[in-house]
Amino acid sequence: MTRRTLFVTTALPYANAPFHVGHIMEYTQADIWVRFQRMCGHTVHFVGADDAHGAPIMLKAEAEGITPQQLVARIAADRPRYLNGFHIRFDHWHSTDSPENTFFAQDIYRRLRAAGLIEQRSIEQFFDPVKGMFLPDRYIKGECPRCGAAGQYGDNCENCGAVYAPTELNNPVSALTGATPIQKSSEHYFFKLSDPRCVDFLRRWATADRLQAQVANKTGEWLGADGKLADWDISRDAPYFGIPIPDAPGKYFYVWLDAPIGYLASLKAYCEKIGIDMNALLADPATEQVHFIGKDIVYFHCLFWPAMLHFAGAPYKVPDQVNVHGFVTVSGEKMSKSRGTGISPLRYLEIGMNPDWLRYYLAAKMNAAVEDVDFTGEDFMARVNSDLVGKYINIVARCAGFLGKRFAGRLTQAMGGDGDALLAVVRDARGDIAAAFDGREYSRALREIMALADRVNEYVNTNAPWVLAKAAGREGDLHRVCSVAVTAFAELSRMLAPVIPGTVAQVADLLGVDFSRWDEDSRVEFIKPYSHLMTRVEERHIDALFDNPVAGDAAPAAPAAVPAPAPAPAPAPAATAAGETISIDEFAKMDLRVARIAVAEHVEGAEKLLKLTLDVGSLGTRQVFAGIKSAYDPATLVGRLTVMVANLTPRKMKFGLSEGMVLAASDGDGKTPGLFLLSPDSGATAGMKVK
Ligand code: 2FM
Ligand code: ZN
Repeated sequence: MTRRTLFVTTALPYANAPFHVGHIMEYTQADIWVRFQRMCGHTVHFVGADDAHGAPIMLKAEAEGITPQQLVARIAADRPRYLNGFHIRFDHWHSTDSPENTFFAQDIYRRLRAAGLIEQRSIEQFFDPVKGMFLPDRYIKGECPRCGAAGQYGDNCENCGAVYAPTELNNPVSALTGATPIQKSSEHYFFKLSDPRCVDFLRRWATADRLQAQVANKTGEWLGADGKLADWDISRDAPYFGIPIPDAPGKYFYVWLDAPIGYLASLKAYCEKIGIDMNALLADPATEQVHFIGKDIVYFHCLFWPAMLHFAGAPYKVPDQVNVHGFVTVSGEKMSKSRGTGISPLRYLEIGMNPDWLRYYLAAKMNAAVEDVDFTGEDFMARVNSDLVGKYINIVARCAGFLGKRFAGRLTQAMGGDGDALLAVVRDARGDIAAAFDGREYSRALREIMALADRVNEYVNTNAPWVLAKAAGREGDLHRVCSVAVTAFAELSRMLAPVIPGTVAQVADLLGVDFSRWDEDSRVEFIKPYSHLMTRVEERHIDALFDNPVAGDAAPAAPAAVPAPAPAPAPAPAATAAGETISIDEFAKMDLRVARIAVAEHVEGAEKLLKLTLDVGSLGTRQVFAGIKSAYDPATLVGRLTVMVANLTPRKMKFGLSEGMVLAASDGDGKTPGLFLLSPDSGATAGMKVK
């Protein structure tokens, strides 16, 4: 077999939020593939990193009063809890805000410029005169130029689906300050994707040997009959958290230019760490560069990225595979990227759920097509309990005791004709199952493995060791049947090792077998005293998982029915004197939620109030008038999280309806200056319940 050398990556997550289950799915998909390739003896370098740059991260850090680097570091510090928790084993985790990335981004840019593929052009853009910055599309809101819907973002309308330039919006406002943006021109740098060389190259690159058929079709459509691609604006003006463009003071690379280059930065840092020559690695024609990504970022990875690499030239190499997956939906609900999905990976771990359950469940629903994967609690419980516990673990659970009690844990290697035949069937399936893993057809691989588990269980049923154990003179048969079953269980464990590594590590210890190679037969000499390898998923797990609604969970109440407004936050008035108590039930009546301040604006004619538009996750958005003008400049509030009372009766105020109240601390007598909005700890997302 040819030995492969694989450089494998997953999409780099934005460094302003913790992982959601969509990340865990992508990493699990890649991790299974990597573990499988390693078992086949191939060399794999599997790296990830935080995607650190861009305006949202800069603005979020600013709203929190910290530097973007501090924000990125805080989020990065939390990554291992998830990665270790779900047995996702990157060789290295890096950041795009790193010297390696600066070097590669600037180097690639200079090479593209030398190839005549960079052009400078003056463009008109919206500028926020209050904030003093050009506004990214997502920070401009207005009325859709097609259907007139209000509150639409600068790039597309969520109401009618129209795509347009922000300058086409009617009555645009800056989401940062509420100011009316002005149009201003600025020099921008473009990657000339319209150059016929790019189109020619991409037509050759974007073929079915590198891409899934659906993806190759899509890129084919983009490349079109006329082969005209739009040039790509790769620069942003200061202030921007990014990498400076060489010879262009005040200009930074757009985050999407340096994000995929982060794959190389991470590889570089990893190569340095383990002492290998990255240039030699990339120059080796045997090295394959493999990316795992979601379906929303195909354009970047299948047009911009290969073109950048190709025209930058050696040592850069173009991707050999871009493997695209769909989204995770939870009970059929599609969740927004920024808000994540309705189950929290950390909560999953914290309530003691087995990470291998989720890995198995996701894998059982994943194939090589670009399809969404739906998680539903009942289906999860049924699938894990029936397959992993009911079929796979059941084999050893039924036979281990006899081997321990009657044979001091020793297995016989004399399997008998039917035993040898059964083991041959199991071992012969390895080739097919390997092909399924290699082709990312995990659901097929697991179906085949479970069909084998069924065969082994049938063998146990037919030979009924519990009957043999009671029958006189059947010791030898009992020994043989249990030894066959446990050896077959070992073979199944080997095949499941890429998917449920935590469990298989326990099996390796139980049976004293090394499962690190795919194509080896398992010989089990001895089994240690058996204790449970895996428990069943119970209703209580599912209840607990969904109990604490995280962002994106099914909304408990329709916004119109719930909210109640109040004007200002009530920083001072102490309705309950210190020492007086309320019951837990009284407290529970309050619906406190984490809210993200989406828009903060001055209110004309109001001395004390700011108008806040709050994103309350699954509860939708709320407008609240808050008496915090004396303490906060609205520009500094946008993007930050706070806590609101979401079930106050809405109150009609002079300036409009107030649909809730944000919480702030103060000294209580109103004399000492200082008003402090509450903030949740890192990791909280809009809509979470506070209790
Ligand atoms: O869509 C995202 O979450 C991006 N942060 C992905 C970047 S992938 C790569 F280019 F870094
Ligand atoms: Zn519209």
